[in-house]
Amino acid sequence: MKKGLFISIEGPDGSGKSTQIENIKQFFKDKDIDIVFTREPGGTPIGERIREIILDKNCKEMDSMTEAMLYAAARAQHVNQVIRPALEQKKIVVCDRFVDSSIAYQGYGRRLGESVAIINGFAIGDCMPDVTFLMKLDPTVGRKRIDEKQQDRLEMEKDAFHVSVFKGYLDIEKKNPQRIVGIDASRSINEIKLDIYKKLEEVLKSVAE
Ligand code: TMP
Repeated sequence: MKKGLFISIEGPDGSGKSTQIENIKQFFKDKDIDIVFTREPGGTPIGERIREIILDKNCKEMDSMTEAMLYAAARAQHVNQVIRPALEQKKIVVCDRFVDSSIAYQGYGRRLGESVAIINGFAIGDCMPDVTFLMKLDPTVGRKRIDEKQQDRLEMEKDAFHVSVFKGYLDIEKKNPQRIVGIDASRSINEIKLDIYKKLEEVLKSVAE
């Protein structure tokens, strides 16, 4: 590979993202290609501590801007400690959620709008994914898959919040057609996997050229 490769996976809660992440890991394992797998919020010891605060059900009074800034703070740490160094070493980084989650959840869901992109500009600089898989599933369908007792603070939000988040994702897809690979996540696990594998083959070919 001539350069590193940054892949992110996005989607509403309950969209089957975790299952496909396992498939993506398997894709690279089958090819004997090492990847750096990481996640947000989290991915570093400091980021994981921030994650605990953000997702804690007891933090009911958390202000939306505080929430957006905590996600961005965890992301700044993640980019500088893990993602950028790995890409500089020409590694493949696969990240479970990245800045699009903040645009969708805080920008659209919490209605913070453009300020989210500005905050995150400080956090990530020019470090953006090369490819983003977006699992597209009606949030009212996705949310039924999540056990209510297991829900974190964000997942506990009302349906209207999740509908706005999904709309946000669709807008992000429209604005970034060259980066975002929209995946119809209402299909079978295997059909989705085959779609993702096909795209990954193309991407690997393009970075090897
Ligand atoms: P997860 O369930 O995929 O681990 O993500 C945790 C929750 O955090 C999920 O409901 C999405 C939310 N989230 C945001 O609201 N903004 C962000 O920037 C990120 C990374 C996640």
